[in-house]
Amino acid sequence: MNPLLKSQKIGFLGAGNMAQAMIKGLIEGGFPAKNIFASNRSEGKLHKLAETFKINPVFSNDELVDTCDIIILAIKPQDLLQALEPVTRSFDEHKIVISVAAGIRMEKLERYVQGARLARVMPNTPSLIGRGVIGYLLNDDDDSGLDSTVEDLFQPLGRVIQVHDEDQFEALMVSCSSGTGFVFEMMMYWQDWIEEHGFSVEEARMMTIETFVGASLLAAQAREGVEDLQARVTSKKGVTAAGLQSMRELEIERALRISFEKAAMRNKEMAREIK
Ligand SMILES: NC(=O)c1ccc[n+]([C@@H]2O[C@H](COP(=O)([O-])OP(=O)(O)OC[C@H]3O[C@@H](n4cnc5c(N)ncnc54)[C@H](OP(=O)(O)O)[C@@H]3O)[C@@H](O)[C@H]2O)c1
Repeated sequence: MNPLLKSQKIGFLGAGNMAQAMIKGLIEGGFPAKNIFASNRSEGKLHKLAETFKINPVFSNDELVDTCDIIILAIKPQDLLQALEPVTRSFDEHKIVISVAAGIRMEKLERYVQGARLARVMPNTPSLIGRGVIGYLLNDDDDSGLDSTVEDLFQPLGRVIQVHDEDQFEALMVSCSSGTGFVFEMMMYWQDWIEEHGFSVEEARMMTIETFVGASLLAAQAREGVEDLQARVTSKKGVTAAGLQSMRELEIERALRISFEKAAMRNKEMAREIK
């Protein structure tokens, strides 16, 4: 981690799951706990967090914004704008504000966080165990230095990737965040089918998980692409080929593409609904 970043004060506005995962990652990555601050609606959670990680609890959002150089907005989207209203005046061009809230687009954030250097970040749920895909969008693509700050901050949660417009941001969210849910949907069918063949729930669960993990790790480590790996496990007129032919006839690809598009449409709808 950049030594300059370690001297900055980082504040979490909202101390829930995402804030806790980030705080853990930052501290494990060598960021000093004395430079981490957090505020939260309910004080009990804040006290517990401060005790666990030896960070500084702050009892007003206003004070957090005044104290910190980098402010991470880690509140649910439906609560965020209301939380920002009273602190909007406190932002200036020396502050970096990073929002992890889904559904609140950059143009809306810019209205509430005028003057600050601004990034929108989308971590997916596997970020909570350090295996996430984390996309980020800057309000100014030419803001040199902010890209590496965001990458340093989120790297403990997984693989960080810069996107360049809201369209790409949405594609990353649908494929990696909603995508995690889509993969779980398939895993449920997998496990059900195995159970129907006499295996216990635990056995079916293990067989399903290991098949997904094994295929993913093989794909991650191989030099060739997924298509070539698939060809290697598929012999002509064999068992796998028969199953794959059926998947193609049933148009699994079409079903998935429609699901991705529906999720993207809902994302746009929800962004309009957030007042
Ligand atoms: N968890 C994930 O995997 C994930 C993935 C991608 C993006 N995100 C984004 O991360 C953000 C946080 O999600 P989360 O899962 O961490 O939610 P969470 O666990 O519910 O945490 C949100 C926290 O914000 C606090 N809060 C609400 N209003 C507040 C206010 N006005 N001032 C100060 N604190 C306030 C809540 O306090 P209380 O203690 O009173 O509830 C709660 O502790 C969301 O915008 C979500 O879209 C999360």
